[in-house]
Amino acid sequence: MRAFGEVWRSNIFQKWVMAITGLLLFLFLIGHLSGNLLIFLGPEHMNEYGHSLRTMVHGAAIWLVRGGLLLVFVLHVWSAIRLSQRNRSARPERYAKVDSRTSTIASRSMALSGLLMLVYAIYHLAHFTWGTAHAQFYAGQKGWEYTLADGIVVPDVYRMVIASFHEPLITAVYILAMILLGLHLNHAIASAFQTLGVTNKRIVPVIRLVGPLLGIGVAIGFCSVPLSIIAGLVH
Ligand code: HEM
Repeated sequence: MRAFGEVWRSNIFQKWVMAITGLLLFLFLIGHLSGNLLIFLGPEHMNEYGHSLRTMVHGAAIWLVRGGLLLVFVLHVWSAIRLSQRNRSARPERYAKVDSRTSTIASRSMALSGLLMLVYAIYHLAHFTWGTAHAQFYAGQKGWEYTLADGIVVPDVYRMVIASFHEPLITAVYILAMILLGLHLNHAIASAFQTLGVTNKRIVPVIRLVGPLLGIGVAIGFCSVPLSIIAGLVH
């Protein structure tokens, strides 16, 4: 039991927790982005997708995913807090040498961009999932139903997204959040692989190139939705 406690509190275990949960969150983002991009195919595709997510396995699948996502998110934030507390406590650790090449603005601002992403996530859920922020655009309100081709009536998520991003202030907040997300992921992906022990001399340069590209690509993908709506390309 004591040995377990020691492992649980160890620096390396917490770094692993942060890396694995971070990569799982990134997988969620890829899935979420794929769903969001359906907006370019029109309301039928996007609303059908939302409906199938909500009704898969008699509605149980979405709750399983939500539970898993919450657990992963909490572990990610918890390990980040523990590690930054430890870094701040002035105890110098021989192996925690700072590599000036990787100590970029992004890496140094990870804690701040992570904290702001947490604030964004709460705002985002209040906006699109709970309907408490910008309730006038909430898909679950009366009169905002959409009838799918097979006759099933569902909340009009497509209309909710379009109406929301016609508001320049909402669009600005989202774009700002996506810039922060890009900044966070720019450093996070390569760093996670490094923590997990990927040190092969041939693979490391590839990860250092592909990690930031993937991170920034995902952020640009998310931005494409509000930007296309505000530019009038999707309506
Ligand atoms: C421009 C960017 C984004 C747009 C347009 C967007 C859009 C949406 C929409 C429309 C929903 C509700 C889906 C439904 O009820 O059917 C949703 C839910 C959600 N989004 Fe996003 N999203 C964006 C970025 C993000 C980011 C960066 C994250 C992660 C930090 C995120 C995390 C979530 C989560 C956790 C849910 C709740 C899923 C659930 O349990 O129902 N989203 N998003």
